[in-house]
Amino acid sequence: MIPRKIGVFDSGVGGLSVLKSIISSQHFETIVYYGDTARVPYGTRSKEVITQYSLEALEFFNTHNIDLLIVACNTISAYALKQMQQNANYPIIGVIEPGVLALTNKIKNKDSKILILGTKATINSNIYATLLQDKGYSNIQSLQTSLFVPMVEEGIFSGEVLNSAIKYYFNNINIPDAIILGCTHFPLISKEISNFFNNKPILIHSGESIVEYLQAKYKLQRFDTTNIEFYASDSLEKLKATANIWLNQ
Ligand code: DGL
Repeated sequence: MIPRKIGVFDSGVGGLSVLKSIISSQHFETIVYYGDTARVPYGTRSKEVITQYSLEALEFFNTHNIDLLIVACNTISAYALKQMQQNANYPIIGVIEPGVLALTNKIKNKDSKILILGTKATINSNIYATLLQDKGYSNIQSLQTSLFVPMVEEGIFSGEVLNSAIKYYFNNINIPDAIILGCTHFPLISKEISNFFNNKPILIHSGESIVEYLQAKYKLQRFDTTNIEFYASDSLEKLKATANIWLNQ
């Protein structure tokens, strides 16, 4: 199967950073983006609630005749991916496995210091650390940096407020060799995060990782134009306005 029409699902606007990478890849004719903006954030919720919301979103995608669904959210990928896969008759791919693969491709030394950033839920799931340990990496630190989510949603991509939060979270952290941006909001502030660590760490971005993963896994076509349909559970206009900013960042 060569996927032409795909879905991209996120709890809200975070998945737009993944959407941007997917659009740049030009591999798809139609992309249906759905953000559950009425119930964002998912990252502070329990596994049960995250799973329930995700299965409800799946009902939306089930009526859109897609060839493949990308879960463009680390929190959902950490908790609800398996159940979603069991309830759909098309492939569903999350961002975590591709992120881990991207890291193993880029960081060969298993003693390298790896910093994993994410929402409370993603970090509590321990999924990145477990998968990396399974691959032999032993110098791993996980850190929840949930405050970055509302900041990015406020359009705060630089400046004093963001720098205070960066200092608050990273003051006692030694410069890592790699950082997994384990939340799809974080690529929007990746420059600032990287700057804090003297631009030394390699950054792993969910969007770039998933494109590499899809290219390795599927025979993909190339399309000159991509038709993008946006849907949201609340305020579609707000989602579109954010998309306008993020996709052009
Ligand atoms: N974008 C989501 C992620 O990648 C986080 C936002 C939320 O908490 O819903 O984990």
